Amino acid sequence: MAPAPIPGKDRPIIAPKLHHSTFLTLKLDEMVLWYQKVAGLTPVHYAPGEAAWLTNDEANHRIALVTHPETKAPVDKPTSAGLHHTAFEYDGFDPWVDNYVRLREDGIVPFMCLDHGITMSMYYADPEGNGVEIQFDTFGDWNRSKEWMWASLEFASNPIGAWFDPDRIVRAREEGLPMEEIHARARAGEYQPEKPPASILLPEVY
Ligand SMILES: [Fe+2]
Repeated sequence: MAPAPIPGKDRPIIAPKLHHSTFLTLKLDEMVLWYQKVAGLTPVHYAPGEAAWLTNDEANHRIALVTHPETKAPVDKPTSAGLHHTAFEYDGFDPWVDNYVRLREDGIVPFMCLDHGITMSMYYADPEGNGVEIQFDTFGDWNRSKEWMWASLEFASNPIGAWFDPDRIVRAREEGLPMEEIHARARAGEYQPEKPPASILLPEVY
């Protein structure tokens, strides 16, 4: 029988940190190129036809991609339980918008965009339909955004957030509006897409 939990000792004093995620893939080379293009991850080790370990920071890898002969295409992935997306964060508004414009020129566009209050976020689907969120913290400070997420009635009343059209964000920046105002307007629904997505479900790729 498992021992009874000790009050106050239900979690470790020093917790391990999130390090990487690993995907089984049918499209190794395409996935490597896509993650490189979208979020600047490059292989630290690349075993062609087998696996690749990618990073875009000081970690030895953040995303691993592995092939296996028994791997099959996912069935009903958008409505199946499991990973919805991984997320990458920019330091601020401008590089986040610049990344959108850069990818748009290559024909890579998000399938949905949400102002969550804590972040403004664009969601892309990788070549196998896994979500990838590209965000920046609207507070510019994890302590402040975490406090707001924890305490604010605004987040509690709408934890998913407000849809926005990224092209309208680009135009607002070109008009000279500061990030704070663009964020406030997005929260108020002023940059809604013409047709907001019906839900946060991933697109069907296969
Ligand atoms: Fe997320």
